[in-house]
Amino acid sequence: MTKRAIITGITGQDGSYLAELLLAQGYEVIGVVRRSSSPNLWRIEHLLDRVTLRPADLLDQLSLVRIIQDVRPDEFYNLAAMSFVPASWDQPLLTGEYNAMGVTRMLEAIRQVDPGIRIYQASSSEMYGRVREVPQTELTPFYPRSPYGVSKVFGHYITVNYRESYGMFACSGILFNHESPRRGLEFVTRKVSDGVARIKLGLADHLSLGNLDAHRDWGFAGDYVRAMWQMLQQEQADDFVIATGVAHSVRELVELAFAHVDLDWEEHVRIDPKLLRPAEVDHLIGDAAKAKQELGWEPSVSFQQLVAMMVDADLERLSSPSGHRAATLQPRF
Ligand code: NAP
Ligand code: GDD
Repeated sequence: MTKRAIITGITGQDGSYLAELLLAQGYEVIGVVRRSSSPNLWRIEHLLDRVTLRPADLLDQLSLVRIIQDVRPDEFYNLAAMSFVPASWDQPLLTGEYNAMGVTRMLEAIRQVDPGIRIYQASSSEMYGRVREVPQTELTPFYPRSPYGVSKVFGHYITVNYRESYGMFACSGILFNHESPRRGLEFVTRKVSDGVARIKLGLADHLSLGNLDAHRDWGFAGDYVRAMWQMLQQEQADDFVIATGVAHSVRELVELAFAHVDLDWEEHVRIDPKLLRPAEVDHLIGDAAKAKQELGWEPSVSFQQLVAMMVDADLERLSSPSGHRAATLQPRF
């Protein structure tokens, strides 16, 4: 029997990679999209003849009930979220509506229609914030440092609670930062790869950044969506940290990206204090031993390969005739 999966957030970075993976596994994929006045399907354009898109919104409980009733999926991947940390200080209430109440709406909708549906919730290493332990594991206490982090802690624990209260197969993946050429332009890796490509091609002369001292455990998104799927194939629902176990600073990211195109980063990078955060997460590094042992999960792309992949993809995009339009759109964050 063909398995059916619903993905919220299919228009995002992870949704697009997960849709590819599930289609390759023979799944029927139904993607949840919210209405937008202009199309934002560029990440899944190549999949549009193979996925079904259905309108629903994490803010609208009945829209979730309706789609679950109509589709009757085997698996439900909740990837939709307000995912950009700085925006969560500008819109803390909306962030909570999406990332905390939205998860509860999703869980309630599934419980009401069919509590046997397997659920993946996109939790985040941002929950560790001011870290209580190095490296971070599934047992490390949380100390979030942003409204985003706080909202994700709620989403995490409500998922655990529905598993423990109702015996639902609900897994929470505590994923560390993962990137790709499909990453949004506002996140630091993509901002850097796009900026480096623009400077190399003469489309810009500098790149403004905030805190270069922050460290992150960066992996490749394609590897991380594989872990999401693996979690839902286990006998028991559980929570897993997914990380490479290696951390780098933003400064190292910048050095590597500029060096990849033979440029000296110090000639082009400017520090803009407006890009510093009200409260920073200084250093994240994950221990994915449990996922390695129980899921057989391993990352396949190194930090160096990831940076090269992203810079090369932006160079290619901005060099192509259709890239000219994109070249006029400067990242604003
Ligand atoms: P992303 O590229 O920002 O995608 C977010 C997706 O959520 C988009 O498809 C967006 O739709 C959708 N969305 C937002 N609000 C919605 C709502 N109210 N109703 C329905 N859909 C909504 O994020 P990502 O990097 O793929 O991350 C996927 C998930 O993993 C997120 O929950 C994120 O918080 C979490 N996470 C990400 C990372 C990472 O490093 N990437 C690490 C840990 C956890 P539109 O296209 O309409 O905006
Ligand atoms: N975005 C951005 N822009 N970040 C910058 C900049 C800049 O100009 N300059 C320095 N940084 C630093 C930030 O201060 C932060 O310490 C680090 O780069 C990473 O920032 P982001 O790429 O925006 O990611 P994030 O770590 O805040 O959040 C991402 O990872 C989380 C998992 O830990 C997002 O994908 C979240 O959705 C995800 O949960």
